Amino acid sequence: MAVALAAAGRYVLSRSIKYHRPRGPTCFTGRCDGCLMRVDGVGNVMTCRAPARDGMHVETQNVVGSAESDLLSATDWFFPGGMNHHEMFTANKMLNQAMLKVARRIAGIGELPTRLVPDSPPREAACEVLVIGGGPAGLAAATQAALAGASTILLEETDETGGHLLAYPGGVVDERGRELNAPAVAEALTREAEAAGVRVLARHAAIGVYGDEVLAHAKDHVLRVRAQRVIVATGAHEGGMAFEGSDLPGVIGVRAACLLLRHGVLPGERVAIVGLGEWSDALASALRTRGAEVFGPFPEAEVLRARGRPAVRGLDVARGAGAGATTETLECDCVAIAPPPSAAYELAEQAGAGVSFSGDAFVVSANGVNGATAAARVFAVGECTGVEGLRVILEQARAAGDAAAASLERESANV
Ligand code: FES
Repeated sequence: MAVALAAAGRYVLSRSIKYHRPRGPTCFTGRCDGCLMRVDGVGNVMTCRAPARDGMHVETQNVVGSAESDLLSATDWFFPGGMNHHEMFTANKMLNQAMLKVARRIAGIGELPTRLVPDSPPREAACEVLVIGGGPAGLAAATQAALAGASTILLEETDETGGHLLAYPGGVVDERGRELNAPAVAEALTREAEAAGVRVLARHAAIGVYGDEVLAHAKDHVLRVRAQRVIVATGAHEGGMAFEGSDLPGVIGVRAACLLLRHGVLPGERVAIVGLGEWSDALASALRTRGAEVFGPFPEAEVLRARGRPAVRGLDVARGAGAGATTETLECDCVAIAPPPSAAYELAEQAGAGVSFSGDAFVVSANGVNGATAAARVFAVGECTGVEGLRVILEQARAAGDAAAASLERESANV
């Protein structure tokens, strides 16, 4: 749905809770909250995760006017230095109660649903090895565990497996050193997992690990999976960048921009790219091929601010240094940012694996060779452990699949 809205040029989808600043999708993968809307009477639907259907009723929440022009954004003008709502109007009790009533009306992110979703009982499943995440690392780990004889389930929260490879518009080097088209590698890894007998459950998002049980959320039910070994391959997501205006709708991640291209949607006619790296280069080249005007990629240090209201319309970048430094304003309708990836470590941490600071970000503490962690039954592989490069990721993941299956054998031999 969010992709369809972007295709229609709509990046302003919501407003921030307190100051009603314009908000829009930044990740298109369920990792921010800029795309929350009310859909067919149900509040706070993550529209980047919801399939678009003809006839849907999609509304912006908690605005007076529209997402583009919300009268409640006057709050931002009244309190330019910020608002401490904990201490406002507390001198007089009646005034304070009146203020609380007003605050409850104008703050928040939506109302209760107009229809009840019927309860459905939880479903159950069991396996020897459960893999969380269907990106390249998860697929390779699951394949290897299944080939080693373990009954293996793989949970993938999206519609399809392949992870970031599906959207990467460039070539990647596979395990045999061949440079291949990234989506083709994703497809090959998926076929390999299916052929090995992995039970792939798409549209199942793992939401908690409790001892030897993992809870997953699907569209109309929850699934409880009892697993002897868990391999966490939750990957990484794009964080933010700290420059003025980086929260404006139209400022999106480079991976998100690549995802839009994959769906045939140009993220903008004039796109500025901030942050260096292979994703930025691949995006720049893919955008040029499709006829967009591209500025950059610029190092983050050269970027001064994004401009525009309610959505991004320009980017100020510094030119030169010292006394001769100038500012150039680039007219653009999209800014794609490439911050360092932020590891999705939460499930691994909950499962008992430690987390450590890599110097750039927090990552799951796991053996770089086979994904073993401080928790005997838990392995972690891929980007969530800070490992980079497809070849290295696949090697680590396959070793983790083997190690998980082998540890089951040792356990049953001891019994
Ligand atoms: S959560 Fe939907 S765009 Fe980020």
